[in-house]
Amino acid sequence: MASEVAAMAVRFVGEYVRAWDLAVAAAVLFVFSAVRNRLSGPPGAPMLWPVFGILPSLFANFDEIHDWGTAALARAGGTFPYRGMWGGGSSGVITSVPANVEHVLKNNFENYPKGPYYRERFVELLGDGIFNADGDAWRAQRRAATTEMHSARFLEFSAGTIGDLVRRKLVPLLDALSARGDAVDLQDVLLRFTFDNICAAAFGIDAGCLADGLPDVPFARAFERATELSLERFVTPPFVWKAKRALGVGSERALVEATRAVREFAERTVAERRKIGTLDGRRDLLSRLLSSPPADFPEGYSDEFLRDFCISFILAGRDTSSVALAWFFWLLASHPDVESRVLADVAASGNASSMDYLHAALTESMRLYPPVPADFKEALEDDVLPDGTAVRAQQRVIYYTYAMGRDKTLWGPDCLEFRPERWLNKSGAFAGGAESPYKYVVFNAGPRLCVGKRFAYTQMKAVAAAVLARFRVEVLPGQEAAIKPKLNTTLYMKRGLMVRFARREQGHEPGHAVPTAGGGRLTWECSSTAAVEDSKNKLVQVTRSVEGLMKT
Ligand code: HEM
Repeated sequence: MASEVAAMAVRFVGEYVRAWDLAVAAAVLFVFSAVRNRLSGPPGAPMLWPVFGILPSLFANFDEIHDWGTAALARAGGTFPYRGMWGGGSSGVITSVPANVEHVLKNNFENYPKGPYYRERFVELLGDGIFNADGDAWRAQRRAATTEMHSARFLEFSAGTIGDLVRRKLVPLLDALSARGDAVDLQDVLLRFTFDNICAAAFGIDAGCLADGLPDVPFARAFERATELSLERFVTPPFVWKAKRALGVGSERALVEATRAVREFAERTVAERRKIGTLDGRRDLLSRLLSSPPADFPEGYSDEFLRDFCISFILAGRDTSSVALAWFFWLLASHPDVESRVLADVAASGNASSMDYLHAALTESMRLYPPVPADFKEALEDDVLPDGTAVRAQQRVIYYTYAMGRDKTLWGPDCLEFRPERWLNKSGAFAGGAESPYKYVVFNAGPRLCVGKRFAYTQMKAVAAAVLARFRVEVLPGQEAAIKPKLNTTLYMKRGLMVRFARREQGHEPGHAVPTAGGGRLTWECSSTAAVEDSKNKLVQVTRSVEGLMKT
């Protein structure tokens, strides 16, 4: 009997159901499910498609992804749910609401660790390093990092590494480029600078990226490759990259090779440093950790701890400030009035703790182009955000720093304008400390606030001051349309920034007026001998200020 019914059903399907009918039914189901998804999210939120989730919208807006995300958040009132492809295990909410960010990063901190989703994608490269750790492992490193990095000894040492690198490597390189009239990718030069700088500060070594001829440095290349390949896991369905990892093929094999090179380098450095009898004269992070273990590590830190610690530091400090500087120079090129005020500030100031206008200009630049455009945390348990959005356990809350920096409701109708003055008080002092860190979340906030924030500002101010005092940065024409962010966890410029450097002494001055701190005006225009002399004197003054900055 049952077999007769089955045979009849097969005959019926064969006679009356065509492939076309099946396609129409599937399409109706698809549209029905899509409309249901659309209606269940906040109005204006991106469509969550059956099977593909948010991916079709992402692909459709790939080229302008951050501006599209910013507009979508504005339409949706600041928060919307997202879902990746079926089987990808990625879902949660995206938000630009400061109260939600404060809840995740501070008020309910224990419920929002980095979590296993992040950890398993970075574990080969970072191991248990601070960037990848939660709970006690994170706390131990955080304590070690803040104790050392906020010590007067490290502040002095790291400022020394910055000044040294600027004087001995960066300025001579730019001098040579300007003498030859060569164009160069400024972003690449800055990335090399910060890589060398973080290696000097963390390991006490010269990575050599800024050496003559800008050589290919195997350790830097392996590091970059390992980071890129780890990030690839975030956009690849887990069953794909996990299968490749199990088989040891393709990108997963390349990742193993790149991370091995990075780890071996770090292990060798740790081993060599251990061999040195006394580390009293060395002030890099690694030497400090080796020579002064805290009470809770009476035996001293293990080799693995030190290796992972240093690798995390390089990851954290290697490209964020260089990317911030690249966007800063790009913004200055189209805002000569701001450049003039920065120059006046540099000329009038003597050390890193001053230069308030430059500090404000960098802060403002990172509001528009945050080096880490978005970040996320993973919920341990079900929760409700302050704006009423529900978050289920294991879902992620993505806080979209890029969108927050361009939110009219947070920064006013001129939120898209580059206006450093918004960070200054009436007497021209930097007043950014009064802003909520959950509104300007560029350096993260709460217990996991960036440990390198102070270092980063000193570094960026030193580079900006030294470069601007000596050179006019000419952005090569015709790049405007190509200056876009790359889709990455760091906001690299997609194709870099091609520039030429013109020595200010060579009379390449822009000729625009430079207001001084006291309200007077000096110009760089060289129209008479007296004016040339005056300009030279001002340049000497600027150069001295930079030297002063280096000494702090
Ligand atoms: C403009 C430059 C920088 C920006 C915008 C920046 C931004 C950030 C952000 C957003 C985080 C949070 C990451 C997360 O938890 O997912 C972070 C963490 C961190 N940053 Fe920075 N950073 C900068 C420079 C640096 C530098 C130069 C260093 C090292 C010298 C550094 C060291 C760290 C460390 C160690 C952490 C981990 C803190 C923790 O998890 O407790 N950063 N930074």
